[in-house]
Amino acid sequence: MRLLHALLLVLTLTIPALGQQPPAFTPREEVPEDYPDRAGRDETFHMCTGCHGFRIVAQQGQSRRAWEGTLDWMTERHGMVALDADTRRIVLDYLEAIYPPRTRPGGFQNPFAPR
Ligand code: HEC
Repeated sequence: MRLLHALLLVLTLTIPALGQQPPAFTPREEVPEDYPDRAGRDETFHMCTGCHGFRIVAQQGQSRRAWEGTLDWMTERHGMVALDADTRRIVLDYLEAIYPPRTRPGGFQNPFAPR
């Protein structure tokens, strides 16, 4: 009987609390303002977030050449509309300026070398 009481006590204490729990995670829409401001940001953001978050873009760092390849890949493989020349230039200018390759070319870099 004690055990049953203990069990009831636990249930009466926990059940109401379950309903009151705040959501552990509140999803928030990404907005262009989350990313570095520069000409072309809004165009790039809206062009690329039709299918996925902009984070997937922002976590890359590539040369302009490689970004061109990414745009082609998005179009050929994933069905992104082919960008007209002006838009393509605007988007590439933004990507090249804000998300350039992160590792410096030239192979091994001495981390202790003065920069
Ligand atoms: C029509 C849909 C669509 C649009 C628009 C689109 N993408 Fe994608 N993208 C995808 C899909 C689907 C994937 C997942 C591909 C995969 O990893 O197989 C992806 C993945 C990526 C990745 C990750 C590749 C990796 O190595 O993980 C990058 C970078 C990317 N897209 C860049 C862009 C950029 C930049 C734009 C805007 C200019 C863009 N995408 C617009 C469909 C799209």
